[in-house]
Amino acid sequence: MVARSPPSQMKIEEVAALENETGAKVKILQADVSSYEQMRFVQTNVLAKLPNLAGIVLAAMVLHDQLVTQLDRETYFKVIAPKVTGKISLTL
Ligand SMILES: NC(=O)c1ccc[n+]([C@@H]2O[C@H](COP(=O)([O-])OP(=O)(O)OC[C@H]3O[C@@H](n4cnc5c(N)ncnc54)[C@H](OP(=O)(O)O)[C@@H]3O)[C@@H](O)[C@H]2O)c1
Repeated sequence: MVARSPPSQMKIEEVAALENETGAKVKILQADVSSYEQMRFVQTNVLAKLPNLAGIVLAAMVLHDQLVTQLDRETYFKVIAPKVTGKISLTL
């Protein structure tokens, strides 16, 4: 699991409960999915050391509820970054 912020105590406990229930091992990392460099670091230092990757769920989102026509350039790129740049960075 990757997000930019450190996980809250509640998230840590939820993940631990899931691990106990399912037997899965979950790694929680801090990285920006829209950063090619950070995703390359995750790929080289984390994913490459795990069993073969079966798939990736890209659920990152930055929410700014506004019509696209009302977004300023900075806000537009904040919203688009995790979805579009994030998708590209995961496929490189
Ligand atoms: N909630 C809904 O009603 C709903 C409906 C339809 C679809 N969805 C989709 O479901 C997904 C999850 O929604 P949610 O409601 O769970 O959203 P959420 O609670 O806002 O979670 C979004 C997560 O994305 C992370 N994130 C944002 N930018 C990132 C980046 N650049 N790199 C890495 N992580 C990043 C955030 O953590 P950090 O800020 O710490 O990075 C946060 O943990 C989204 O893709 C959303 O479009 C949600």
